[in-house]
Amino acid sequence: MKNRLLVTGAHGLLGSEVVPLFQDAFEVVPVDLVHCDITVADDVARVFKETRPHTVIHCAAYTAVDRAESERDMAMLVNGQGTRNIADACARLGSLLVTFGTDYVFDGKSGRACLEEDETNPLSAYGQSKLAAERACVESGASFLSIRTQWLYGAHGRNFIFAILDRAKKGETLRVVDDQTGCPTWSRDLAEATSRLIGANAGGIVHFSNGGQTTWLEFARLIVAEALPEKSIDIVPVSTASLSLPASRPAFSPLDKGRYTALTGHTPRPWQDAAREFIHHHTGRTS
Ligand SMILES: NC(=O)c1ccc[n+]([C@@H]2O[C@H](COP(=O)([O-])OP(=O)(O)OC[C@H]3O[C@@H](n4cnc5c(N)ncnc54)[C@H](OP(=O)(O)O)[C@@H]3O)[C@@H](O)[C@H]2O)c1
Repeated sequence: MKNRLLVTGAHGLLGSEVVPLFQDAFEVVPVDLVHCDITVADDVARVFKETRPHTVIHCAAYTAVDRAESERDMAMLVNGQGTRNIADACARLGSLLVTFGTDYVFDGKSGRACLEEDETNPLSAYGQSKLAAERACVESGASFLSIRTQWLYGAHGRNFIFAILDRAKKGETLRVVDDQTGCPTWSRDLAEATSRLIGANAGGIVHFSNGGQTTWLEFARLIVAEALPEKSIDIVPVSTASLSLPASRPAFSPLDKGRYTALTGHTPRPWQDAAREFIHHHTGRTS
C-alpha cells in the first residue's frame, strides 16, 4: 500500500508540478484554499484527521511580493501562521513536512552565492513572512525539509516567460532590470529535486535552483531569442530603482547548491537548458 501524501497549494505554480510527479510513489491528496485555508487551525486539523498523511508537501503560500508591502498582516498570516498550523499538525501526527523558502530571506549583500547557514536579513514583508515560516518549522519540532528556491516559472500561474512573450508579440517595448542577479528555475526541475531530496532523507534547509546565475535582462534576452528568433526585439535595460516597486529585492542572491548536490549526487542543469526546454515545449518550437 502506498503512503499518503498531502499537497497544499496543489493548483499553484509549484503544486501543479508536484501532484503528478508524486502520483506513482504516493497516494496523493491535493488540497487548495477551497478545501483548506491553512490560516484556520481547525481546517488544517480536519484535513489531517481525514487524510492522516505520511508526508506533506506544503506549497501553499502568499506569494505576491509587492502587494505584501501593503498587506503585511495577510502575508504573515498565510506564510507565518499558516505554515505554523501545518508544521504543528505534522509534529502531532509524526508526518514529514516538506516546504519551500526563498532567496528573499537574504539581503543579497554578501557578494557570493548564498549558503544555507548564511545570516538572513529580509528586505521585504514577503521575505520576513517566509523567514517566519522557516522558524515555525523549527519551533514545531516536526521532521522537516525546507527547500529555498528562486525565480520560479512553470506552465501554471504567473510566469515571467509568458509575460515577456505576450508583451513582445504585442510589440510593446520591453524594459527589464539588469541589476538583480539570481537564477531562473523551472518548477518541474524543483519538483524533481524535491523528490530526490525526500529519497535521500534530507532534512533542514537545502538550497535548490537551476544551475548558473544571470540577470532578469539576460533571461528576457534568452526568452525572445529562443521563442521569436525571426523578430528583432529591443530590450531596454533598466535599474530596479527606476521601477519604484513597493518591495525591495536582493541585488545578488544566487543560491549555492553544494548541499543539494552532496545529499543527492545530482547537479542542477544550467538555467539556459531548462528554460530552452520549457520554451520549446510551451511555445511549440523545436530546436
Ligand atoms: N514563485 C516564485 O518565484 C518563488 C520563489 C521562491 C520561493 N517560492 C516559494 O515556493 C512555494 C510555491 O510557490 P508558487 O509560486 O507555486 O505559489 P503560487 O503559484 O502563488 O501558489 C500558491 C498556492 O497557495 C494557495 N493559497 C494561498 N493562500 C492560501 C491559504 N490561506 N490556504 C490555502 N492555500 C492558500 C493559492 O491558492 P489561490 O490561488 O486560490 O490563492 C495557490 O494555489 C511557496 O512557498 C513560495 O513562497 C516561490
